[in-house]
Amino acid sequence: MAHIIVVGNEKGGAGKSTVSMHVASALARLGHKVGTLDLDLRQRTMGRYVENRQAFLKKSGLDLPSATCHDLPEIDQSALKPGENVYDHRLSAAIARLEPENDFILIDCPGSHTRLSQVAHSLADTLITPLNDSFVDFDLLARIDARGEKILGPSVYSEMVWNARQLRAQAGLKPIDWVVIRNRVGTQRMVNKEKMQRAIDMLSSRIGFRVAPGFSERVVFRELFPRGLTLLDLKDIGVKQLNISNIAARQELRDMMKALKLPGVEIDF
Ligand SMILES: Nc1ncnc2c1ncn2[C@@H]1O[C@H](COP(=O)(O)OP(=O)(O)O)[C@@H](O)[C@H]1O
Ligand SMILES: [Mg+2]
Repeated sequence: MAHIIVVGNEKGGAGKSTVSMHVASALARLGHKVGTLDLDLRQRTMGRYVENRQAFLKKSGLDLPSATCHDLPEIDQSALKPGENVYDHRLSAAIARLEPENDFILIDCPGSHTRLSQVAHSLADTLITPLNDSFVDFDLLARIDARGEKILGPSVYSEMVWNARQLRAQAGLKPIDWVVIRNRVGTQRMVNKEKMQRAIDMLSSRIGFRVAPGFSERVVFRELFPRGLTLLDLKDIGVKQLNISNIAARQELRDMMKALKLPGVEIDF
């Protein structure tokens, strides 16, 4: 059975597609077969990222380990029973196709609450939620008091994950390993950063997620997209000397991959 990784957060711009591409590519580089699905059917950032990679590799004659990206198959709608949802069936059909050929299926979710995203969350063996270092983004996980010190209660996104967990429990599936990673963390020591750290740690035991290290705010993450590259490809495309920021970013990716504790994965890059 393929291990299903879902990357989700209802907030746009949290870094879901960036994290998806890096996790999928890191797994491919470690020798695993990875099929991805982009559920943001409109923006298709992950799909575009993979297409850019294929085009770049073709043009430069390079053969680098890569994940594949797949569209949801069309299905015969007349075969649906009354009340059945077409998207549920398209998602199940996509997973059924990817399952036999892949070790991992990675699903990149849209930055909004959609039926597809909701169903995908209930399929997650591992759920990765990238979170910007901002209380505006934190507000989708939990309500917090005015001082940013006391959790008042769960919020829309964590309630959705809770529902997904209930569905899995009813279906006798193993619980979701929910991992929240902080993304775009400032490199300087800042009051907000420390307050966020405390708030996330407090929330983690309350609503049941693990906290893993994520990426700092680095311009390299924005530059790699047009060529479909990740940090792990830089040496292979002829970058002789990685700069300090790129070395640090690679280390962040390594630490993140280790902290995800994915089954059968040994990190050796
Ligand atoms: N660690 C980071 N450092 C700098 N820019 C980042 C980082 N992570 C993401 N970005 C940028 O932030 C924006 C949103 O990221 P994206 O992965 O598309 O988020 P989402 O898929 O959650 O909407 C993009 O412009 C992306 O290049
Ligand atoms: Mg995205």
